[in-house]
Amino acid sequence: MNYQIQSFAEYEEIYKYSIENPEAFWAEVAGHFQWQKPWDTVLNWNFKDPNIKWFEGGKLNITENCLDRHLESLGNKTALIWEPNDPNEPSRNLTYKQLHTEVCRFANVLKNNGAKKGDRICIYMPMVLELAIAVLACARIGAIHSVVFGGFSAQSISDRIQDAQCNMVITSDGAFRGAKQIPLKPIIDEALKTCPSVDKVIVLARTKSAVNMTADRDVWWHNEIAKVNSNCPAEITDAEDLLFILYTSGSTGKPKGVVHTCGGYMVYAGYTFSNVFQYQPDEIFFCTADIGWVTGHSYIIYGPLANGATSLMFEGVPNFPDAGRLWDIVGKHQVNILYTAPTAIRSLMQAGHHYVENKNLSSLTKLGSVGEPINEEAWHWYQDNIGHKDCPIADTWWQTETGGIMISPIAGITPTKPCYAMLPLPGIQPVLVDEKGEEILGNDVSGNLCIKFPWPGILRTTYGDHERCRTNYFAAYPNLYFTGDGCLRDADGHYRITGRVDDVLNVSGHRIGTAEVENAIDMHHGLVETAVVGYPHDIKGQGIYAYAICLEPPEDENKLRAEILAIVTKEIGAFAKPDKIQFVNGLPKTRSGKIMRRILRKIAEGEFENIGDVTTLLDPAVVEEIKAGRLDR
Ligand code: WTA
Repeated sequence: MNYQIQSFAEYEEIYKYSIENPEAFWAEVAGHFQWQKPWDTVLNWNFKDPNIKWFEGGKLNITENCLDRHLESLGNKTALIWEPNDPNEPSRNLTYKQLHTEVCRFANVLKNNGAKKGDRICIYMPMVLELAIAVLACARIGAIHSVVFGGFSAQSISDRIQDAQCNMVITSDGAFRGAKQIPLKPIIDEALKTCPSVDKVIVLARTKSAVNMTADRDVWWHNEIAKVNSNCPAEITDAEDLLFILYTSGSTGKPKGVVHTCGGYMVYAGYTFSNVFQYQPDEIFFCTADIGWVTGHSYIIYGPLANGATSLMFEGVPNFPDAGRLWDIVGKHQVNILYTAPTAIRSLMQAGHHYVENKNLSSLTKLGSVGEPINEEAWHWYQDNIGHKDCPIADTWWQTETGGIMISPIAGITPTKPCYAMLPLPGIQPVLVDEKGEEILGNDVSGNLCIKFPWPGILRTTYGDHERCRTNYFAAYPNLYFTGDGCLRDADGHYRITGRVDDVLNVSGHRIGTAEVENAIDMHHGLVETAVVGYPHDIKGQGIYAYAICLEPPEDENKLRAEILAIVTKEIGAFAKPDKIQFVNGLPKTRSGKIMRRILRKIAEGEFENIGDVTTLLDPAVVEEIKAGRLDR
């Protein structure tokens, strides 16, 4: 069996084999990685508890797979290319040898500062090489990283640090993002007021802004790195030891810490990277995601490095200094594979054709899309203008919980069509179920997307709360992993993801729970109750529409709106701010008091005709009132 699939016929053959003999299939794939000791059992599982273990008894260190094993043959190959926010600042490259050295040195810094195997370490950093180094250094010593996206507020960081009981934080003074400078260390200082578990903070100097350093707690990266050498043998971990925790939003309450383990995650991120993007030895791969999200974990760091690839990381944003920046980066670094999000494509498309004209995009051979459904117009624009009409687009469907790509074209090998994630990767068994949990067989059908057999990258638990993992993903339908997504399978058996069917929003590819936003807004003392829904948004995919009941009629609605936005920014982060806030006197509720979000969604969409039956509502009149007050801009 080839590790990298070479033809459609081979895909079909391997897919069939992988479903009929999943353990043999994954054992063969895992054999392409470096194990200190082979596993005893390929797979042990049930979805009831759930209890899922891959490659039990196997011993490895993921950084040996990402770094050490390439040193002999690829030591002088570029592992990471870094493009700064400011196009006038020089870019930086690290070869595999250099990255190995840097990771070992920083791993020694971690050890000198008391970190050890099993510790949880929170990383809150800009998109600089040191972020990748910090992540890999944690993995090197067997510590568990919990990367928190740089856009989250102090409150959100504090929640995540407390949930995981982190004892160390790695951060920087600040971050450059477009024309802005964002202070990170002051946000960490604020967060740590409520995090007694943290006794060490390592601070990278990036923006050189003034920061407070707390004695006995805070140390500078550059001072610490001067004290160590680059000799750091990898800590050997069990396949099922925790590699990282990554917090993600669900339909209820606080974000949950999705747990991935060393062996299975490595095999899955590595295999899917090589196959979906059909990575060839001299290609340059550019994933525009932030390492604070799962896409950055799997397809900037672990997947590419496990395959000895060259991965480009970009510090800035797509529209700085102008909307041609991504295309400039492609030309400057001769990028071959570009992996980005529909929201970026739509906004760059809308910025105007002159930002794309005359750019040197001829190096591109393959394109990818991730994070949300891509609409047909954006798909064609991407293919025609960026992919010069001859680059296949891999529309990759997956989730934080799946660890890697699940349903996607294999670039240039399996078919594509606009808006479709197409076919499952080898080893992945998607099923559609109806409301009762009955499997919907045949084609030209739609339902809720579930997966019926484990794959090595599946989440193992939600940190500190296994029951939550069970109820969220494994309880809705017995013996199935429920994705939370709706999906159709067309007449040809191709899959199209239609969006979330639960109370999770996808705003510019960021997952946000409606309950999280509601909880934040409700902290305003002038409000009684809030309901938040999503509505279609031209650029963001989904926008956030909030309905709020005030204690007393507001004197100045815009002032109140500004206060609400400030609270959401403080509680979650600016990216979760509602686009529209409508003040109402009541919300549509059933007699049992449940808010009818379906009705609120229809109103937010402006679909007054299809609201459905309102006679069973506690107070049907509120619907007319809400309709009349709808904000259409
Ligand atoms: C959505 C991001 C349609 C989906 C990797 C999923 C997509 C959620 C696609 C996971 C796609 C992701 N087409 N929808 N190609 N990719 N999604 O955890 O709703 O940030 O459940 O992982 O994004 O978001 P997450």
